[in-house]
Amino acid sequence: KETHVCICRSRSRNYVSVMAEEAKKLAAYAAVDNHIQTNQVVGVGSGSTIVYAVDRLAERVRQEKLKIVCVPTSFQARQLILKHGLTLSDLDRHPELDVAIDGADEVDAGLALIKGGGGCLTQEKIVAGCAKHFIVIADFRKDSKSLGQQWKKGVPIEVIPMAYVPVSRTLAKRFGGEAVLRMAVSKAGPVVTDNSNFILDWKFEHSQNWKEVNTAIKMIPGVVETGLFVGMAEKAYFGMEDGSVKVRD
Ligand code: 5RP
Repeated sequence: KETHVCICRSRSRNYVSVMAEEAKKLAAYAAVDNHIQTNQVVGVGSGSTIVYAVDRLAERVRQEKLKIVCVPTSFQARQLILKHGLTLSDLDRHPELDVAIDGADEVDAGLALIKGGGGCLTQEKIVAGCAKHFIVIADFRKDSKSLGQQWKKGVPIEVIPMAYVPVSRTLAKRFGGEAVLRMAVSKAGPVVTDNSNFILDWKFEHSQNWKEVNTAIKMIPGVVETGLFVGMAEKAYFGMEDGSVKVRD
């Protein structure tokens, strides 16, 4: 009986993750097809969903001879751009982007986001902030009425390493919940970001005014950036389980 239960559980988990991969691809392809044109400067986000967007970008560059320049949001994004032979740039040469496309860990009804599951939130926020249009791509599991309903790992907050203990205490005291230092999978040490900083995952207890909370957290000495993206996204594409794409704007 026990074995039977285990098999069912693992099958249903596999089923959801296969559906989610298809859904990521659907969202990514729809966003690239609807928002990318020739002669654009494009911000390339990080994570697993963006991999499909870069696949599609590369396909369109090959097939339609699109001329685009790509600005990465992480080491991973830079590697993806190079792997596909796309034109790599940076904010020194292209401080104004036409569009940035990125994934998210959770998207609420008002397009507020939690980002930074992959630890790239600071560069992602900088690049998104430089873009005329910031477009989010996600699978159905990220779609939420209010932040915290779907993503249970908390809000990622990038901190200067020497400040992680005081920042974590201040977060808990002022906003409730608990802020936990993100450890490497090996548990050998903390995750270190592309900017050589640490990540605190702040597990908040209840929904808040995210715009105000974001501003207040940023004022804590030692905080570099938060994974709360409020008032930045223009549109979100969700790949759905039934093969459709849901658009929120
Ligand atoms: C990385 C991010 C990612 O965009 C976010 O975690 C979503 O990732 P995925 O597409 O793998 O679900 O913010 O810092």
